[in-house]
Amino acid sequence: MCGIVAYIGQRQAYPVILKGLKRLEYRGYDSAGVAILNNGLRVYKKKGKVAELEDWLTGMDMHGHAGIGHTRWATHGEPNDRNAHPHTSGDQQLAIVHNGIIENYAQLKKELVKQGHQFNGETDTEVLIHFIEEIKKQNQCTTEEAVRIALKRVVGAYVIVILDAGHPDTLIAARKGSPLVIGIGKGEHFLASDASPIVEYTKEVVFVNDYEMAIIKADELILKNSSNEVQTPYIQKLDIELAAIEKGGFDHFMLKEIFEQPQTIFDSLRGRLDAGQGSVILGGLREYTGVFKEAQRIMIVACGTSWHAGLVAEYMIEDLTRIPVEVEYASEFRYRNPVVNEGDIIIAISQSGETADTLVAMESAKEKGAVIFGICNVVGSSISRTSHAGVFTHAGPEIGVASTKAFTAQLAVLCLMALKIGYEKDSIERKRYLQLLHELELVPEKVEEALKLNDRIKEIAEKYKDARDFLYLGRGYNFPVALEGALKLKEISYIHAEGYPAAEMKHGPIALVDESLPVVFIATRDAYYEKILSNIQEVKARKGKVIAVVTQGDKNIPPLADDIIEVPEADELIAPMINVIPLQLLAYHVGVLKGYDVDKPRNLAKSVTVE
Ligand code: M6R
Repeated sequence: MCGIVAYIGQRQAYPVILKGLKRLEYRGYDSAGVAILNNGLRVYKKKGKVAELEDWLTGMDMHGHAGIGHTRWATHGEPNDRNAHPHTSGDQQLAIVHNGIIENYAQLKKELVKQGHQFNGETDTEVLIHFIEEIKKQNQCTTEEAVRIALKRVVGAYVIVILDAGHPDTLIAARKGSPLVIGIGKGEHFLASDASPIVEYTKEVVFVNDYEMAIIKADELILKNSSNEVQTPYIQKLDIELAAIEKGGFDHFMLKEIFEQPQTIFDSLRGRLDAGQGSVILGGLREYTGVFKEAQRIMIVACGTSWHAGLVAEYMIEDLTRIPVEVEYASEFRYRNPVVNEGDIIIAISQSGETADTLVAMESAKEKGAVIFGICNVVGSSISRTSHAGVFTHAGPEIGVASTKAFTAQLAVLCLMALKIGYEKDSIERKRYLQLLHELELVPEKVEEALKLNDRIKEIAEKYKDARDFLYLGRGYNFPVALEGALKLKEISYIHAEGYPAAEMKHGPIALVDESLPVVFIATRDAYYEKILSNIQEVKARKGKVIAVVTQGDKNIPPLADDIIEVPEADELIAPMINVIPLQLLAYHVGVLKGYDVDKPRNLAKSVTVE
């Protein structure tokens, strides 16, 4: 949610920042801007995507060796030129980019207005830079000192980077609750909201911690805590390659990421699963196996697609371990005063590892004595660092705003966990355990086969792309898959879509069914097969259009359906990883056929770092 890039060093800052903003655009894309030190502070910002900013700046003098940039996802104030970042102080000496929310900005603004400050826009960020300016003036102190004082009064979450025309050799950055990575080059430093703008220049990075400030010159990085004590930066090596964050010949990141799934699922299982030996090794679980075995209950907190993975995990974990599981939207969990007892286990699932709702939910459960187990994709992310233990999904960087490969990697890891705990707890028979391990090993192959449906799904997308609504129905393990299919379609194609347990249809949604409503059934062979067959008949009887995802060779459903999608056979516990593939492709093709930017759907952002 909002992307920040900054540079200081021997290179020209603008090209580095521009390229970085393009890489971070998935975090927000309603406006973009840069500030460069070039004979004073120069600020350029514009409503729209980074490409529009780039067009506007083509041919202008953008020289300068220090600069900051921002791509915005609006929170305070509508997306327009005035509200775009960077924002400047009243004396035009300071410029700031900010990711997060300053919750007490209205109070601060009131005080500043009384002191004579005037504001151009409605953002909390503009208030913050005026506040810093005012503190500097009143205390006759340095910008660094003023930032420190200001942040003590600020309520909310932030990453900020400040450029000071009076000190062109220094950037000042600070973080609380939003991510900031600093890349260390030779005589240069790169700052960004994630590692993607940095990886092509250096692999050496520092993940700034909450409440830390960084004072950065071309050849010096000083980290300080909120008490102004110097901290030793912990330098880590990035393990991502540039190719992982480029489109690699695909039209969109979303399609590339859908097609990467055989590999990403394989990567999430690699070194962890050995079906031949009957072994599952999860380093993050090792010291916690006992805690899981003794657990009275597990609560899963997550948002969006990760929440859907949590629902599948609920079925898996209860089935294989007999430990009761509750799955909650992190945002609801946090604010409804839930009962959390010492020793309860919270599993927090998140691709980005930065989702604010999930982060605050796990923090509040941690305070109550729960054991926090994180399932994250991004190494070094806030959620992974806040967890007591956890497992990384190793799906590689996910750039498309619609989550695809992260979902299947989450399912693979959660399935491994459920199998490991169930086996250790003796709640699963060895025969079934070995069968599921074997099936899990075959998932990458089966996903590869499901991807061959791409052309067929494009035809189906063409046929239904003008529908006003879609219904997605599934039962058992396929119910969360239905929810995920509906979410993918609505976020990418802006078509209203709902997912339901198929049996629940008769309690309400059936009223929607007529000849104009496409109903996507996820109806592969499982314990509910006969039941869902009846549900399909119920839709057909009301002239609904049935698109059915079925197991290869199914003979019963094709005569009832308008369109059939045949996927490889799999155990019902494994099937979600395969059955979701055609639904991802359907959403992708409908979105593209409707002419939308599927990688950057309107109003969304990849990493939702505000509550
Ligand atoms: O990074 P997270 O997994 O925590 O993100 C959670 C949701 O914001 C995310 O899954 C969102 O729903 C995606 N746009 C779904 O495609």
